[in-house]
Amino acid sequence: MTEETIDFTEEIKQLPGSVDACTKLRAAITGGNATAAELGELLSQDSILAARVLKLANSPFYGIGKPVTSLKQAVILLGQRLIGHLILSATMNVITTSDILKPPLDADMFWKHSLVSAWLCKKLASESGCESDEAFTMGLLHDIGIFLLILKFKRLYPNVLARFGDSKDGNRSELKMFKTSHCRAAAQLFEKWHIPPEISVSIENHHGDVTSGPMGFLPLIEDWTEILGFPLVPSQGHVSVPKFLKYRNKVYVTDELVIEINEFLEHSR
Ligand SMILES: [Fe+2]
Ligand SMILES: [Fe+2]
Repeated sequence: MTEETIDFTEEIKQLPGSVDACTKLRAAITGGNATAAELGELLSQDSILAARVLKLANSPFYGIGKPVTSLKQAVILLGQRLIGHLILSATMNVITTSDILKPPLDADMFWKHSLVSAWLCKKLASESGCESDEAFTMGLLHDIGIFLLILKFKRLYPNVLARFGDSKDGNRSELKMFKTSHCRAAAQLFEKWHIPPEISVSIENHHGDVTSGPMGFLPLIEDWTEILGFPLVPSQGHVSVPKFLKYRNKVYVTDELVIEINEFLEHSR
């Protein structure tokens, strides 16, 4: 099915205010000249984003063992690269709790699907030469393009979402109806956020086939979350087994894994 370049610039502007702050901060970080004080100051201009960054900086996943109480301190202690990931994670958190999200999507379900994907990505990161925090963040963000499609195709998109079958099915329906997909939309947003192209390409292909590139295992994660009971929408649930062969020895759906995930989700609230 042919994909067309549909411009999401306007929809990106309509995302919650924190997206704008995120774009400025990512530009400052990738520019390489910003000091910790300047980044802390920029962060403090968006109170919701700032609060989320501090919360994440103190969470068991990113935390460094001592309490982080100021934004400048967070930048110094965690480093600009990690702060760049934290900002993306916090922005995703803000978007998923905004009123853009409408049925059949459910905020809690979307967030858990994203978090479990992030957690699994972290588990498989070393397999594909990816840093674990980068893999975690990208797993968290992989479906962010859905918000842009909701904004662009307000009336029709919820119907398509309600009928999402397996992950490939859902992607095919998007292409058929809108000549674009949430994967393509995400890629346009990622360009603004200076996400390296090799990672962005993998996110764009997360409903395709498993590849050997960084984060090339993402199509597998999409199915894994469904098997583990964390689909994006209730209609998902048909998973193709062959995709699992390559990684079958890496992560099994065991009782231990399910317990580990639930503990992780518990700590992420
Ligand atoms: Fe997706
Ligand atoms: Fe997904």
